This record gives sequence, C-alpha cells and structure tokens, in this order.
Amino acid sequence: MNVTIIGTGYVGLVTGACLAELGNNVFCLDVDQAKIHLLNAGGMPIHEPGLEEIIARNVEEGRLVFSSDPAAATAFADVQFIAVGTPPDEDGAADLQYVLAAARSIGRHMQGFKAVVDKSTVPVGTAEKVAAAIREELAARGADIEFAVASNPEFLKEGAAVEDFMRPDRIVLGVDETPAGERALALLRELYRPFNRNHERTRVMDVRSAEFTKYAANAMLATRISFMNELANLADRVGADIELVRQGIGSDPRIGYSFLYAGTGYGGSCFPKDVDALCRTASENGHGLQILDAVQRVNQAQKKVLLEKVWAQFGRRLAGRSFAVWGLAFKPGTDDMREAPSRSIIEALLRAGATVRAHDPVAQEQAARALAGDLADHPELLRNLTFVPKPLDAAQGADALIVLTEWKSYKSPNLRALREALRSPLVLDGRNIYDLHAMAAAGLTYLGIGRNNLA
Ligand code: NAD
Ligand code: UGA
Repeated sequence: MNVTIIGTGYVGLVTGACLAELGNNVFCLDVDQAKIHLLNAGGMPIHEPGLEEIIARNVEEGRLVFSSDPAAATAFADVQFIAVGTPPDEDGAADLQYVLAAARSIGRHMQGFKAVVDKSTVPVGTAEKVAAAIREELAARGADIEFAVASNPEFLKEGAAVEDFMRPDRIVLGVDETPAGERALALLRELYRPFNRNHERTRVMDVRSAEFTKYAANAMLATRISFMNELANLADRVGADIELVRQGIGSDPRIGYSFLYAGTGYGGSCFPKDVDALCRTASENGHGLQILDAVQRVNQAQKKVLLEKVWAQFGRRLAGRSFAVWGLAFKPGTDDMREAPSRSIIEALLRAGATVRAHDPVAQEQAARALAGDLADHPELLRNLTFVPKPLDAAQGADALIVLTEWKSYKSPNLRALREALRSPLVLDGRNIYDLHAMAAAGLTYLGIGRNNLA
C-alpha cells in the first residue's frame, strides 16, 4: 500500500519506517526542512534503538522517502496519517494548531478520496475539527470530494519504539459508521493485517472512544507511578523498602509488575502533557477528575524529593559543592530531554551555587541545549556544568553521585572505584537501581527513593 505520514518526529518517523519495513511505500512529510535534509543525507534526528538500520534499508530499497512537499504528500496515498505534535498550550490544553494545519493542507491538495487518520494524541472531538478544516478547504476551491477522518492513537514508548510498533498489544481504530468511514476502516485493516497474524489485535470503535482510550491509557499509567511515588515517600518514613513492596504487590496478577517503579517523577513529552490535557477536558465538561489532579500534584512534588535529600545533607546553599549526575534523558534508550527530571534537578543545583559534572550515553548535546534554555536568565551558571565522556569522570571529587536515568551501563559500576573517586561517599539514586547491601559493603551511603530502611 501507499501511505503518507505527516510529521516526522518520534511517532511519525517510527511509524513510517516500520510500515515501509513491512513492504509498504511510505512518504514522510515534515515542515522542518532541516530535518528532511538530514534524513535525506542519511542522518538521524533522534536516537531510537534499531530505527537507523530500518530507515537506511528502506530508503535504499526505495520504499521510504522524506520530503517537505505537501502537494506530493497528499497525492501519494489514500491513507494520510497525521502524526504532528500536540504540545500543551498556555492553559495546559492540547494545542491543535499543527494537527489542523496538516488537515488544511490535505484539504487544499486532495483530488480524490482520502482516509485521514489522527495518530497524534488529540482530545475527544478533534476528528470533527479535522473534518471541518478539510471541508472548509474543499469549499474554498469549490470541490466536493469524499473523505473520512479516523482515529488511530499510538501507544509506543520511546526507547522501545520500534519494538512496540512492530509488536503492538492492540491497534485501536476509531471510525464513523458511514460509507466513507467503512472505506477508511477497510484500508486500515489491510494496512495493519500483518500485525494480526497470531491473533486479532485490532479494536474497532467509534472515533470519540478511540480518542478517549489514548488519554485513559496514559492517565492510568501516570496514576500508577504517582501512587507508587507517594507510597515510596511513606516507606522512607516508616522504614520499609519500596522495592520489596513493589515486588510483593506486583506478583498479584491483578496488579502486575509494570509501571510500579518509584522514582523522580514521570517526565517525557507525553504523560505530563496528556494528564494535564485530560484534566482540562474534564473541567471544561464540568466533571473535574480529582484523582488525576492529585496525580499531577504528586508528580510535581516528586521532582523535589531528591533535592530535599541533597538539602538535608548539605543545606540549601551549595557553593563549593560538586555533584556528579548519571543520566540526563527522561528515560533510558532515548535522547529526549522533554520534561526530563534531570533538568529541574540540575537547574536547582546550579542556582544554589553548586558545580555539576554530568554523563549520559546519548543525551549530552540535547541536555546542553535544554539547560541553556532553562538557565537563559543566568547563562553564567552554565560555566559550572560540564559533560564528561565516562561516568566515573563525573564522580571525581564529587560530594555525591546522583543517578537520574536507569541506563543499563550504570547498573553494575565498579563500586570500589566509585568510592575512591567520590570526595564523600554518598549515592542518591533516583531510580532505585542498586542493591542496598552491596552499597553498604562498598562503604557508600546510599539513599534511594523509599528505601531508607538501612539508613
Ligand atoms: P515530535 O515533536 O517529535 O514531532 C512532530 C513533528 O511534526 C515535527 O518534526 C514537526 O516539524 C512536524 N510538524 C509540525 N507541523 C507539521 C505540519 N503541518 N506538516 C508536517 N509536519 C509538521 O512529536 P512526537 O513525539 O512524534 O509526537 C507526535 C504526536 O504523537 C503527539 O500528539 C504525541 O502526544 C503523540 N505520541 C507521542 C509518543 C512519543 O513517545 N513521543 C507516543 C505516542 C503518541
Ligand atoms: C508513554 C507510554 O508508556 C506510551 O504507551 C505512550 O504511547 C507514550 O507515553 C505517549 O503517549 O507518548 P514514554 O513517555 O515514551 O511512553 O515513556 P514511559 O516508559 O512511559 O515513561 C514515562 C515516564 O514515566 C518516564 O519519565 C519514566 O521514567 C517514568 N516511569 C515509568 C516511572 O517513573 N516509573 C515507572 O514504573 C515507569
């Protein structure tokens, strides 16, 4: 099949590459010409395991093209995926300007039937706005062409995006029960047929339920995380270890092990904005979601928990103090720094007068750019932040090591070398990746999140 993907970010690029890998011809459109040039020159705009190889192979075999020509993109395929960003606007609601611009572009250029598929995460009711934008463009040029707007939310995780896309738990398709909707559904069923070989993963529903499903999934996962973070903070006070508690409850299949890790609060480009957007939708509809309001408050507070441990050790003035930071990306496997907890923690340390030496296997450049923005009012503080090539370099002479991303390469450090490198033997672990007894045996004072039963 021919497929057009509008927006070549984390979702669009992965979707395009994976659909090409399955034998489809894919046209990836983006308004960011620098990104298109980079991709056409064989470069990669993002770090995502396995993606580069798939792109190289499919470009080479002629199934995947990158372009910023909207007319060619619309002409290329009957199926037009919209996978542009939906960042929060100033009120926290999803900003639909990019989605609607993509819709208008389709409406301006289409000459025959189109199945327009919202893959971006969009509030309930957006498909109707997308349809209205297309209709307006068609009316402006006196055209009457059949189209349908379907919802096909994406559930992939960064750092495992290719794997998630290729082995989806479910494929949600929201379509209208109209002839055009049925036509769109037939095209989407054909496109996703290879994913349903072992068992049927497609869930067909009405458009509004599909749009809602995406927010419900992210809100449920964010709720689990905030719930565990609250319990972890209590565990710190009552002398229990949240890691043991996690295992104790996760073994109940009704609860399950996934997304029960306490930490420095959820970050990334999705949970924070999607929970906020769902809360906005709820209050606009006169039905505030009390649990989700609390989930957000807990997450905001959780970003400070490690800092509070720093303050408890060293006080609030940190001039003359030096900290090692391991991990900058919001999670392992990605270079994405959007809403990464490392940003607010490093910013607070620098503003308090400390120096920071930081390491991340892939996100150092992105982190430097993000922190330059965060500290734009005090750029001189950036002189106290250095990025080092090896994790142990960061620890040299530091007053404490702070672990913020659970990269595999941090999981089994040489504890003796770490102990010797640090000026004082303190490890603050925002991801609970170390064994309490091993740390104690190495002479390191270890403070995790909700694990202070040996402290
Ligand atoms: P992103 O910011 O990485 O990429 C968006 C891309 O769209 C950018 O390259 C931008 O230049 C391009 N764009 C904007 N307007 C355009 C237009 N009119 N025409 C063509 N291109 C345009 O965003 P992302 O992380 O890929 O997220 C996209 C959507 O998918 C969001 O709604 C997000 O919530 C959702 N989502 C993201 C993830 C994730 O893990 N990142 C997972 C599931 C769903
Ligand atoms: C999340 C969802 O997992 C995807 O299903 C969804 O498609 C995506 O959002 C989206 O809508 O964009 P992602 O943000 O890439 O994916 O990464 P996650 O693995 O979900 O992690 C999000 C944040 O939660 C990270 O900061 C992570 O460290 C944190 N987290 C995750 C925890 O603190 N504890 C956990 O147990 C799991």
